[in-house]
Amino acid sequence: MPTCGSRKPVGCVILKRVRTLSIALLGMLALDFVAAAQPPPPPLMPWPASITFSPGAVPLDAKFTIGLSGVGAADPRVKAAALRTFDRLARQTGLPLLPRIVSPDHATLRIVVEARDHRPPQQLGDDEQYSLQVSEAAIRLTAGAPLGVLRGLETVLQLVRQNPAEAGATPGFSVPFVEIHDRPRFPWRGLSLDVSRHFIPVEGVKRTIDGLAAVKLNVLHWHLSDDQGFRVESRRYPRLQRLGSDGLFYTQADIRDVVAYARDRGVRVVPEFDVPGHASSWLPAYPSLGSRPGPFAIVHERGDPTGVLDPTKEATYRFLDAFFGEMAALFPDPYFHIGGDEVDPSEWNEQPRIVAFIKRHHLADGKALQGYFNARLEKILALHGKRMVGWDEILQPDLPKSIVIQSWRGQKSLADAARAGYRGLLSAGYYLDLMQPASQHYAVDPLQGETAGLSSEEQKRILGGEAAMWEELATAEDLDAKLWPRLAAIAERLWSPESVTGVASMYQRLEPINHWLEWLGLTQRSNLRLMRQRLAGVLPVAPLDAFAAILEPVKGYERHRGGYGSSMPLNHLVDAIPPESDAARDFNNAVDRYLAAPNPAGAEALRQQLAGWSRNLAPVRPMLLANSLLTEDLPVADEVAALCRAGTEALSYRTAAVPPDWKPRALAAVKDASKHYAGLLIPIAPAIQKLVDAVP
Ligand code: ACM
Repeated sequence: MPTCGSRKPVGCVILKRVRTLSIALLGMLALDFVAAAQPPPPPLMPWPASITFSPGAVPLDAKFTIGLSGVGAADPRVKAAALRTFDRLARQTGLPLLPRIVSPDHATLRIVVEARDHRPPQQLGDDEQYSLQVSEAAIRLTAGAPLGVLRGLETVLQLVRQNPAEAGATPGFSVPFVEIHDRPRFPWRGLSLDVSRHFIPVEGVKRTIDGLAAVKLNVLHWHLSDDQGFRVESRRYPRLQRLGSDGLFYTQADIRDVVAYARDRGVRVVPEFDVPGHASSWLPAYPSLGSRPGPFAIVHERGDPTGVLDPTKEATYRFLDAFFGEMAALFPDPYFHIGGDEVDPSEWNEQPRIVAFIKRHHLADGKALQGYFNARLEKILALHGKRMVGWDEILQPDLPKSIVIQSWRGQKSLADAARAGYRGLLSAGYYLDLMQPASQHYAVDPLQGETAGLSSEEQKRILGGEAAMWEELATAEDLDAKLWPRLAAIAERLWSPESVTGVASMYQRLEPINHWLEWLGLTQRSNLRLMRQRLAGVLPVAPLDAFAAILEPVKGYERHRGGYGSSMPLNHLVDAIPPESDAARDFNNAVDRYLAAPNPAGAEALRQQLAGWSRNLAPVRPMLLANSLLTEDLPVADEVAALCRAGTEALSYRTAAVPPDWKPRALAAVKDASKHYAGLLIPIAPAIQKLVDAVP
């Protein structure tokens, strides 16, 4: 934001004529009207519930101090968050900011925490509201409870900016005058993180928690077991991790460390042990838990045999009771996820013993047998003080209403759950592993679509949602790039008012937020750059970067269908690019603007862009030939060349005579470019098609 120091001359005012920007900004956010004359929205994400800017700013300098007051200030999370703020501010501004907590009356940042939170650990629905007033005197952050301080401090850090570099302005940093009153729309805002398919070491999990807290997400749903690996140390059943993993698992000390780390940052940790399906990794150590006779092995490659727990044996329940009891003590959150998804009943139907059990208990089929299993599990978990959460397959009318249904197969299951009296979470539409653009996730709202017709009582049962990151095709190396920045857009959907829907504004803010998240220590851009550098080998990486900038991974499950497994190296070009190409989106938007109002300058800008991409192929081709990992991308280079040619010709044929057979040839080139080589697609193709179509 432009600043005009009335305390100190820290900047100039561009918007002096507008005392408050809240109305203009809200219009921009909701109506998505970002006219060229409008200043970019301040890089806040999630956007606050209420915000009013005024001209002026509080300068940040080496004298920066924090003061803490109110009964809740004694909460260790508050002090720890204040100390982290010094560290992050110092990193962001380069100022030598010593952690100085001083008397509240004299501090630059005055934090007031009105109430103490007497109910650790953090609970679903704990107060996260805060108010922030930045004015002449100071930055005042007021919250009813410690969590609100944590949320508000992230807003303060997002507001910090360099003073505009203009004549007469003082170089430095400041926080603009603003008044914010903020609270979340939903109380459960999370990420489901699969660490079974590819293990994520503790440092990666902690880094992810940093990111969650930075965008005000409050749940890490930790998917700790699946067919490919059992990732937690059990002291009671140590063969689980020994035979059920490749040696990569979290010790109980690791788990305590991560849970404490998350608690300090206002993030609940909900463990998931997926049963009775996705359970192959339990069975090498305890084959008698399986529905069919063993031996069993953890799954390495897609198509390897899997195993399902046997719900008909009392021994299964004794085992789960003891194991869940051990885990219940390790994970303090009251909610405990039992998975329950994608159970293939054929394994049960093939066992005469299990078929006889189904008959004896008057169960209709395998689905009903899973219902029986879930009901037993719910009771076991209740005895350990836990409430059961499960994927939407567990929805059945006879389970107690205390359970939570996580909808992944579509929003209908969320609506069904709410109508039947269950609380629910939305994940359908938030699957980050499917490589969809941020805009697609951003358009998904837990209370729209199938759930829109619910009564207000039913809607209240929708607690929020979780993004999901499955790791079949991701590793610790590129995890951050698969999560960020798209997860920030989902965080906004779950925190901000329903009216905050403008896609252009979201993307305008997402870009600086992406940088800001990297300053925090996330590696979404830096690690991909490193991966491309590795692919470039001894050659300069810049041409490969420019080539990669207009590519995206194929969407949905297309790449999964090509096969995957733990032996598959995920170090090809498709692994070294973000899910969404900013350059392609910018180009596509520029083409739309041009076609809406064709003009010579617009045409020239598009031509230049296409010429640049085309020229870049000259140094790229030798790179693709030099590294055997990259040769698969040669057809992609050919398609980029053809697209650039078709686009350039289309631009010139708006004013020149069109050769009679040109259009069919150009359209054929665009069609060819929709073939996917090496798991890559070229997202400028739709815009090129529009340019070709527009030629008379
Ligand atoms: C799931 O994606 N199978 C929950």
